[in-house]
Amino acid sequence: MKFTLNDLRAARVAGKKIAMLTCYDFTTARLMHEVAVPMLLVGDSAAGIVLGHSSTVPVSLNFLIELTAGVRRGAPDAFLVADMPFGSYQASDAQGFKNVARMLKLTGCDCIKLEVAESHATLIKRCADAGVAIMAHIGLRPQTVGLMGGYKSQGRTANSAEAILETAVRMQNAGAAALLLEAVPAEVTNAVVAATTVPVIGCGAGPACHGSVIVTPDALGLTPHRPKFAPLLQDLSVPLKAAFAEYVKQVSTGQYPAAEHLYQMPMEEKDVFAKRK
Ligand code: KIV
Repeated sequence: MKFTLNDLRAARVAGKKIAMLTCYDFTTARLMHEVAVPMLLVGDSAAGIVLGHSSTVPVSLNFLIELTAGVRRGAPDAFLVADMPFGSYQASDAQGFKNVARMLKLTGCDCIKLEVAESHATLIKRCADAGVAIMAHIGLRPQTVGLMGGYKSQGRTANSAEAILETAVRMQNAGAAALLLEAVPAEVTNAVVAATTVPVIGCGAGPACHGSVIVTPDALGLTPHRPKFAPLLQDLSVPLKAAFAEYVKQVSTGQYPAAEHLYQMPMEEKDVFAKRK
């Protein structure tokens, strides 16, 4: 059964915690669909995870659209959130809305995530007025790495905590359907949850959130540096590397391809073919 925004809202009211994973491809989405992961995010973390960039800044809108459409095909029942990449919505509200609509139409996602500062309130309102569910990403915003000078947890001073809280309330008031709070102390999360009524998804933001998202490859041991808040669910790097090495061995020793991997030609065709040679 499809997990919807109303299910997420109901979870907040009921105190039920919702799991969200990042996903970047059809094949993984299909597996997540089979175990009914309720929420998926095609994050701009694809920049590093899929393309090997050192920040999220270079990834393009077209690339995220292709990935999101693939994930949608693999996981039709998940509440699918699509990230808008750097530069696709900051020039003006008109540019932002046009690209948000493009993402929505071409992918079939359920919600759009925007890394926001106060100046984005008008874009959120424009999207909400048009009926688009927006998840406002606050706290650590990886797209601002240039200004931050690196990735640092946010809200660790009273002033910074207050600024995050104000932005959260402003985004909700502008029409954001949900918030994503990244890398902030539990005190900030508690204050945001207390001051808002929309679901708050945490990414390194502690247990008070209504759901939690992690970058899936971090939790599977597939990235070189796992952030402290990401659990190691299983280290898949070991069996994957063993499988790759096994394939190299089988091919190089002639063990693969074996008889069971061959296509057969009917006997009579074999005879005709042999005579033609
Ligand atoms: O791009 C992403 O994967 C994200 C999560 C880290 C929240 O924004």
